[in-house]
Amino acid sequence: MNVARLRDARHWDLAYRHGSTFRRVTSVERMMFATYVRVIKGETRVVDIGCGTGEWTRGLARMGATVRGYDISRVAISKARTLSSSQAGFASYDVWDVNSDDVPLYLAPQSIDVLTCRLSLSYLDIPRFTANARRWLKPQGVLHVMTQVDNRPADAEPHRGWHPEPHRGLNADQIAYLCEQWRDAVHYKLDLAGQTICLVLQHPK
Ligand SMILES: C[S@@+](CC[C@H](N)C(=O)[O-])C[C@H]1O[C@@H](n2cnc3c(N)ncnc32)[C@H](O)[C@@H]1O
Repeated sequence: MNVARLRDARHWDLAYRHGSTFRRVTSVERMMFATYVRVIKGETRVVDIGCGTGEWTRGLARMGATVRGYDISRVAISKARTLSSSQAGFASYDVWDVNSDDVPLYLAPQSIDVLTCRLSLSYLDIPRFTANARRWLKPQGVLHVMTQVDNRPADAEPHRGWHPEPHRGLNADQIAYLCEQWRDAVHYKLDLAGQTICLVLQHPK
C-alpha cells in the first residue's frame, strides 16, 4: 500500500469544515444501484464505508434499508447526523478509521447484506478492507464500489493540500485485483466515457 495515498482524519476534518462536497448523487446512480443490488425494505442491512456527510447513506435509507455510515472524519459524521435527523427511513452514523481502528462490534461476521464504498475505497488499505468485507458479508452479500477510474501514470506526483483531489480513483491494477477475489464481479458505467464506474462484487472466492 502506498501510504502517500492515504489521508488522515485531520485532512478530512479540514475539508469538511471548509464545506467540501463530492460528486452529487444522481437519480441515474440510484436507479442503476437498485437494478444491480436488491434492497428489501425493512430487511436489508447496509453499511456505507467512508460515508462523508451521508448523502448516499440517506438515499439508501430511503430505499428501505437499515443503514450505518462510517467515516474517519468527526466533522463529516456530525454533519451527517444533523442532515439525517429529520428524514424518514433509518440511517445511523459512527466515526471509524477503517484502516487502523478496531473493527466495530456492529460488523459481526456474516451480518451485512450490502457494503457500499462510494468514492472512498481508493483512500483505504484495499487488501485489509476486502479481507474484512468478505467476513462481514452474508453468503449472498454484495460489495458495491463506486469509483473514478484513475488513468494517471503510476509514478505521478501525489496530490498535496486539503482540497479534494480532482482524479482520485482506482487504477486498472486495483480494479483487476478487486475483481479477481470474487466469483461474481460485474461493473457498470455511470458516464459515457467510463470514467466513473461501479463494481458489484459477490461470492468471495
Ligand atoms: C471522496 S469522499 C466521499 C464521501 C462520500 N462517500 C460521498 O460520496 O460523498 C471520501 C470519504 O472517505 C473517508 N475516508 C477516508 N479515509 C478513511 C478511513 N481510513 N476510514 C474511514 N473513512 C475514510 C473520508 O473522510 C471521506 O468522507
